[in-house]
Amino acid sequence: MTTQTKTASRNIKREFIPRMIKELQKRFGPGAKPRCFRAPGRVDWLGSHTDYNQGLILASTVDREIVVAARLRSDRALNFYSLNLEQEVRTSLDKNAPDPAHGFANYPKGVIFEMLQAGIQIPGIDMVFYGNIPIGANLSSSAAIEAATIEALLGLLDRPMTHWEKAFICWRAENRFVGMPCGILDQFSIINCQKNCVLFLDCDRLASELIPFSFDQYYLLVIDSGVGRQLVKSEYKKRVQECRAAFNALRKAGYNISSLSAIQPHQLKEIEPELEPLLFKRVRHIVTENQRVAAARKVVSRKNFEKLGKLFEQGYLSSSRDYENSCPELDILHDLLANAPGVLGTRIAGAGWGGCLVSIVKKTDWRQIQARVKKPYAQKTQRELRFFPVQTGQEPGEIL
Ligand code: GLA
Repeated sequence: MTTQTKTASRNIKREFIPRMIKELQKRFGPGAKPRCFRAPGRVDWLGSHTDYNQGLILASTVDREIVVAARLRSDRALNFYSLNLEQEVRTSLDKNAPDPAHGFANYPKGVIFEMLQAGIQIPGIDMVFYGNIPIGANLSSSAAIEAATIEALLGLLDRPMTHWEKAFICWRAENRFVGMPCGILDQFSIINCQKNCVLFLDCDRLASELIPFSFDQYYLLVIDSGVGRQLVKSEYKKRVQECRAAFNALRKAGYNISSLSAIQPHQLKEIEPELEPLLFKRVRHIVTENQRVAAARKVVSRKNFEKLGKLFEQGYLSSSRDYENSCPELDILHDLLANAPGVLGTRIAGAGWGGCLVSIVKKTDWRQIQARVKKPYAQKTQRELRFFPVQTGQEPGEIL
């Protein structure tokens, strides 16, 4: 077995924690002993852009995490440091606005201000973050920072909160404070999913199920295309608007629906003349993607990896053709993977427009897969791939 195929956790080594605590004390001075909290990243299995359309999602945590060392202060100072980015941000509770210069710190700040909005009294705080969730790899390092922050605040304040409340505070931090109009997928799955489980979420009924699961001889392999995600914010906003426009047009045409996810697959033909072709494509993606999630929910519990791989492939096609959240490099990478032995199926991870693909692969084959696609991809795109095999990860909590 190679090191990459071992099932050992990829969590940050606990020996690293004293270094985080020392760093916090060195930077922000004497005070109470910091405590450490963690949150995993997430990977979406199916349900691309369905969350803000009140649709269905299948996702899990990953065995990579963000750790935060934190302590409360007696003044109103908010001090943050990222060991990965070597960036320090000093601000205060009196500066209640995002600041582009604050970079990563806008996420914990957003959570703090949303907690204040929810009526929770918070004093100043010192926080040092460290993580091994690759940035920009669609494993949601930002939602993991938010989840680690809320765990830390609630732990330090000794205050209980339901998973739903936590997820919504983090989601509001991202939407209202950071300004990314995302759905609930990232925050909900990180806060609610557990190790050896896959989460099924119905964003309309707000009902979820944890499906017990183990990978056995398979992995999810996340492959970073090396294409930055500069387009994500603007394209994502555009898709949210297009879905809203399609919804309004259908309502106007007499369809008494509460969201696009209320459209049934057999209605697609009938609604086509009511929509501009582009909007129809967006709707077709959402409707068929919901159908794929419902099918995947069944095959996951039966561990039918072949069928899951096929659903991944259909999802990719729909994303690329109808939702248009792929890009030329992702299409090249997808085609290379489709021809590699050991790959059961591949789809776009997270938002798309660059970033990563995620494949279901045989554990024993992943090195050959890497060797097979790396070079031709580099020749065609002049970009280098990064590979991250992932398993499910532990839910957020304190590191004791
Ligand atoms: C991003 C957003 C999620 C979801 C996905 C696409 O990750 O944060 O809310 O919309 O894109 O499924």
